[in-house]
Amino acid sequence: MNTFTYRYPVTVYFGERAAEKNLPAELARVGQNVMLAYGGGSIKRNGIYDELMGLLKAAGKTVTEFSGIMSNPTYAKVQEGARLARENDVDFILAVGGGSVIDCCKVVSAQAKTDEDLWELETVLRGSPTGFIPMGAVVTAFGTGAEMNNGAVITNETKKVKGPLWGAFYDFAILDPAYTMTMPMSQVISGSFDALSHCMETYMGSPMETNLSDEINEACQRSIIRNLRVTLSDPQNLIARSELVWAAAMGENGMLKIGKVTDFQAHMLEHQLGAYTDCNHGQGLAVIHPVLYRHMLPEAAPQFARLAVNVWGVDPGGRTELELANAFIDALSSFIREAGLPTTFTEMGIPADTDYKAIADTTVLTGGCCRKFTRDELLAVLLECR
Ligand code: NZQ
Ligand code: ZN
Repeated sequence: MNTFTYRYPVTVYFGERAAEKNLPAELARVGQNVMLAYGGGSIKRNGIYDELMGLLKAAGKTVTEFSGIMSNPTYAKVQEGARLARENDVDFILAVGGGSVIDCCKVVSAQAKTDEDLWELETVLRGSPTGFIPMGAVVTAFGTGAEMNNGAVITNETKKVKGPLWGAFYDFAILDPAYTMTMPMSQVISGSFDALSHCMETYMGSPMETNLSDEINEACQRSIIRNLRVTLSDPQNLIARSELVWAAAMGENGMLKIGKVTDFQAHMLEHQLGAYTDCNHGQGLAVIHPVLYRHMLPEAAPQFARLAVNVWGVDPGGRTELELANAFIDALSSFIREAGLPTTFTEMGIPADTDYKAIADTTVLTGGCCRKFTRDELLAVLLECR
């Protein structure tokens, strides 16, 4: 295991009526002017907006609304939020939504405090923001685990890059699984696959030998697979949904990464695919993963074989490591089909004339795993995904 420092700054309020029970005390600790940030309006249709607005009013807050945060949030939207926060002297941001709203607000919280161009500061000058507006998150769509980390995935439309900016951690995250029950089923499925992908990408890092983080990781993967299956047959099952919501948070709250260097090559590729096509994140990953993993054989065979047995329940009897590794990829592929996830970019509606070479040429190459890809290999992966 690698050396590590572990500290976690996000307080999680999980479970039934978590907002009603905990938001009043949290709001009492923050300033007068609160920004209520949300997406395209699902929270107005399912009643979450009214409930939270009631709690904000009861706390006597002055509310500034920052709405219309799109999936795959753009850097331009970040700037809009930062302007609004400055104009209204916002003291606290309450981000209500899925990964997109939650990520966008992480950078708004930093950008509102500085005139520097944060994209330039972080990606070119390799600096970090230092001032932040404090924030709380209310999760309405699970999957990314964004509520528990300080990375924000932002699309810079001008530069055609979808990449990470580092903002603040949320002071607290409210995870009431009931709030996620109105998610469209396609988003439940893609969010679950995203969570599974985070676990796999972490597992595929180094060191490669089994360690405690990987054993917890295997349990998370089994839980996601099992509970997505329950959810596919019984979409309103709150117990299964609760497990999925927490497993997704576990995937990105650092626990599984303790003592490891992670891989995340599938994510880097998907993010650039998103920069060029604005596609759904979890669906893109579902198409990329099996293809990328076939390209990682035989170097990744020891880890894949372990996943076959410990996560997918493949009987190891009489099989070679390479056979088991192939059985893992087969099991993953068939689960993707079982969940109704797309298996090609065409199925996702991605146009045939997409510039895959440009995507491969601008993808971050990771070195966390047993296999470092070249741009030509990534292009081959993308072309196979069509
Ligand atoms: O915008 P509204 O109207 O709210 O609708 C949203 C959106 O259309 C809808 N939705 C959310 N909660 C709902 C609901 N609809 C009905 N009922 C509810 N309770 O769901 C749609 C998708 O929301 P979005 O936030 O875009 O999805 P997701 O949570 O998958 O987030 C995707 C973004 O997160 C990034 C992705 O790249 C993408 O930009 N990621 C962030 C990560 C992080 N910070 O740790 C890690 C991930 O790997 C990922 O890259
Ligand atoms: Zn992801």
